[in-house]
Amino acid sequence: MRIAVIGSGYVGLVSAACFAEIGHDVISVDNDSTKIAALERGEVPIHEHLLPELLSRHRGGRLRFSTSVKDAVSEAEAVFITVGTPQSETGEADLSFVDAVAREIASVVDGSHGSKVIIEKSTVPVSTCDSLRQTLSLSGAHSGSFSVASNPEFLREGTAVTDFLYPDRIVIGVDDEFSSSVLRAIYQPLTSGIYYGRHALIPFSGYAHKQAPLIVTNAKSAELIKHASNAFLATKISFINAVANIAESVGADIGQVCAGIGSDSRIGAKFLNAGIGYGGSCFPKDVQAFQVVATQCNYDFGLLTEVMRINSEQRQRFVKKVKRALWTLRGKRLAVLGLAFKGDTDDVRESPAIAIIQALLREGAQVRAYDPAAMPKAKDVLGSKDVVYVDDPYEAAANCDALLILTEWKEFSALDLRRIRLLLKHPIVIDGRNLYPTEQMTGAGLIYYSIGRAAGVPEPVTPIARHGSVGLQPREQTVVRPAVTG
Ligand code: UGA
Repeated sequence: MRIAVIGSGYVGLVSAACFAEIGHDVISVDNDSTKIAALERGEVPIHEHLLPELLSRHRGGRLRFSTSVKDAVSEAEAVFITVGTPQSETGEADLSFVDAVAREIASVVDGSHGSKVIIEKSTVPVSTCDSLRQTLSLSGAHSGSFSVASNPEFLREGTAVTDFLYPDRIVIGVDDEFSSSVLRAIYQPLTSGIYYGRHALIPFSGYAHKQAPLIVTNAKSAELIKHASNAFLATKISFINAVANIAESVGADIGQVCAGIGSDSRIGAKFLNAGIGYGGSCFPKDVQAFQVVATQCNYDFGLLTEVMRINSEQRQRFVKKVKRALWTLRGKRLAVLGLAFKGDTDDVRESPAIAIIQALLREGAQVRAYDPAAMPKAKDVLGSKDVVYVDDPYEAAANCDALLILTEWKEFSALDLRRIRLLLKHPIVIDGRNLYPTEQMTGAGLIYYSIGRAAGVPEPVTPIARHGSVGLQPREQTVVRPAVTG
């Protein structure tokens, strides 16, 4: 199948590479000529696991790049729209990029290049397919030469390639037989299981299916599935954060509570990690946009207001936790591990870590930050005047009043805690992602504050001399049991 993917952001680029991987001829289009030139040279503009392998495997073969929507669409049988749908001032999705692309596509759908299916893959409000169909017609697309369909994506940043190739489900929202047959054919290598029998496939263990499940709906239902999925996941996170706050005040352990709740197969253990709330380019925007959709349908979806309130409060509660641990923040030197909105990505959009750092800076704290991938993007937001960026967690910890963990990077859950203990001025770790069992931290001599668990305080420790003989005074090393909860 010949496919055009319009928009080479996270979703577009991953989708284009994965369509090529499962055997299609793909043109990935973007109006940013610098990005397209970089992609043609073999550079990878985003940090995404396995994407470099796919791009180098298919670039110049089944995967080509272009800045011309018209050229790509005229060749294609299926056109996926994957441009941004940012949040507008009113909270609803701004569909102006989708509209602009639709108008450009329309000029090529003149019947001379065969029939085409135009598929929305960007996250859009319900009924966008209707507007898309209308815009294409009004902009001159030859009626009878095109169909419109919805094919929502469920790609998480960091695992987007395996999410695409090994999906829990593929949803196609189709209102006619032609678009149904084209979309079924596109995903056939996954739904038939042929892809999983190949030798050179992208590896992924533990996939529950031999054939990717396909769910065929009408276009409106598919559009609703996307918003409802993200809103439900965000609700799950806010719910468990609310429970964590109760657990913390009564002395229960949110980890144990989650094990108890999540083992009920009707609830499930995933997306039950309490922390500093959800961020990223999807959940905050989509929950808000879904609520606007509800309002437009004359339905007051107050549950979503509460989901957003809990999420924003979770960040403020964390800043209060830092203040309780350190009393005042003015002049305090804080090591911060994590800037990205979650692990395995360089994306800092709507990152809880960034919001928390900004709040700490407003309180007069000094921040030494480290993130394995997101430092360049964080510098664009936070600047370099108030934040010192360092090369590893230990450099961050040096001589700090406390260490804060704000992103769930794997490497942050395997720190040399005794080394951290020696480097910190005061042995305090405040973990917004619950990466450690409390005993492991206290066993290393660290006072440990986390989310939804009681504070962990080590028994008074024997003084340990620092490297280079500067050594802390024994009195400084003796930990006083604080009178605060987590
Ligand atoms: C999310 C969805 O998971 C994807 O299915 C969807 O396709 C995508 O949005 C999108 O609409 O494009 P993503 O934003 O990449 O994917 O990230 P998630 O892994 O869902 O995490 C979102 C946020 O929730 C992160 O800040 C993460 O740290 C937080 N989170 C996640 C928690 O606080 N607790 C959890 O248990 C899980």
